[in-house]
Amino acid sequence: MQTIKKAVIPVAGLGTRFLPASKAIPKEMMTIVDRPTIQYIVEEVVASGIEEVVLITSEGKSAIENHFDYDFQLDTVLKEKNKFQLREELTNISNLIDIVSVRQKEPLGLGHAIWMARNVVGDEPFLVLLGDDLVMSDVPCCKQMIDLYNQVGESIVAVQRVPLDQTYQYGIVEGEAIDIERAHKVSRMVEKPAPGTSTSDMAIIGRYLLMPEIFDVLGRTTPGHGGEIQLTDALQALANKREMYAYEFDGVRYDAGDKLGYLKAVVDFALQHRTLGKPFRDHLRSVC
Ligand code: UTP
Repeated sequence: MQTIKKAVIPVAGLGTRFLPASKAIPKEMMTIVDRPTIQYIVEEVVASGIEEVVLITSEGKSAIENHFDYDFQLDTVLKEKNKFQLREELTNISNLIDIVSVRQKEPLGLGHAIWMARNVVGDEPFLVLLGDDLVMSDVPCCKQMIDLYNQVGESIVAVQRVPLDQTYQYGIVEGEAIDIERAHKVSRMVEKPAPGTSTSDMAIIGRYLLMPEIFDVLGRTTPGHGGEIQLTDALQALANKREMYAYEFDGVRYDAGDKLGYLKAVVDFALQHRTLGKPFRDHLRSVC
């Protein structure tokens, strides 16, 4: 079985749900307490043992690449001012992991964004993490998925249970539980089913572990829901050919590309923060 060494993080979307904030600043660069969303995601990748990140970017997203780059001028100024701790913190960010960028010239959909990574990923299984999807967990969500992959050796989508009346907002998975805790064998997937048509409450979140065959399938996938090339449609086609699993990860997921999801993430991550958690909790008590 091949080891998982690469993670693809698509950040080329327009972020319309977060306008006007996301007009000039990528939504992935919005701050959650003291770090941009994208840094939490790259840290999850690093904590899961991944060696290389493939960022799928677009025009106007260079702040993301700059955030993980070494800034010689800033480093020199911090050195002159004896700001050692800050300097070390910034150096650690630029040394986190190797990052390769690929441009998606038009936002043709998540499936198309992943397809752009085909030459860099090559013929090996890989992870996908959406650039605006955060998971708070004791064991990194990607690590949990890699542990399952080491048992089943096939593609995995991370899922969470959602109320049945909200399934129309998600990619929905149907499947049967298997002998491994929290795991299901996928039988069918539908992107944003019409309200009232879904019997499954297993919703896909922004974490996938995919076999490289997905690239061939994506190359043949035509635009689906919303006129975009949908990853879920390609996953259904892949699931018709070989086994695929859904995994109910252990943790809490936040859609930080949505205003309410973002606010929930800020509050929960602030409450968990090493130094800010206690005073922030006191503040919330005083206002609630
Ligand atoms: P979203 O649907 O959340 O992204 O896609 P979006 O299109 O940026 O946001 P809204 O719906 O307009 O507010 C999930 C992830 O896939 C990336 C996004 O950047 C986000 O991280 N994406 C989406 C791409 O990279 N390319 C695309 O064509 C579409």
